Amino acid sequence: MKKIKNLLIKKNKTKIVCLTAYSKNIAKEIDNFVDVILVGDSLGSVLYDFDTTRTVTLEMMINHSKSVRKGITKSLMVVDMPYNTYRNKSEALKNCKKVMKESKCDAVKLEGGNKKIVEIIKHLIKNNIPVMGHLGLLPQNEKGKFTFKGKSSKEKIRLLNEAKVLERTGVFAIVLECVEKKLSKEITDQIKIITIGIGASQHCDGQILVTDDLIGLTNSKIKFVKEFGNVRKTIRDAVKKYKIEVKSLKFPSKKYLY
Ligand code: KIV
Repeated sequence: MKKIKNLLIKKNKTKIVCLTAYSKNIAKEIDNFVDVILVGDSLGSVLYDFDTTRTVTLEMMINHSKSVRKGITKSLMVVDMPYNTYRNKSEALKNCKKVMKESKCDAVKLEGGNKKIVEIIKHLIKNNIPVMGHLGLLPQNEKGKFTFKGKSSKEKIRLLNEAKVLERTGVFAIVLECVEKKLSKEITDQIKIITIGIGASQHCDGQILVTDDLIGLTNSKIKFVKEFGNVRKTIRDAVKKYKIEVKSLKFPSKKYLY
């Protein structure tokens, strides 16, 4: 797949820019500036106010992905497989095929690096489904407070090993979420596929953020989120102006009438 090859050759040459999108309009605006657009299951908390991404369904992911597809002309489109849709090889293959067919995405992303998930990913890749991995903090599996990963040497060894196993399995990239700085460098240096960090240091081959956080729509308090814009203010200002013009009969003026 050409788009994936083009991404892989960027390793050690230039940083890879990734963002999430849940709709056509956002995808269209970011497409020219990024390499990868992820339809993340973070849409569960960002759009639907769910406490956990576990509530996100396959149908929700497909519907949002269909919208996002319409806004992309150049970026690689990856779709998150939601919780409980890849519990065994046959379930994973059936659901990934459905997502790929209906959304026309380029790849899917699955969380985890244990033996069971590796076997499932192997089966998907054997069946021509391109897979992006996800290690470190795994929102679909996290119980309690979200904390960064790679504190103990046992955890470091496990994560480094999982990254190497995922590479051998054939994934083309791995998201490293909330992974300790030195460990994210070690993983990035020791594998040939690309690492995409979120709260995992500048040493990763690329970075990803939730677009709604980056544009200041969510007012996120998460440590790794940087707001690069303030869309909330832009919305409020526009709506205030609209309200004033409606009340004062200034809108709709002659220009907007048939
Ligand atoms: O669901 C999501 O948006 C993600 C990114 C934060 C990596 O998995």
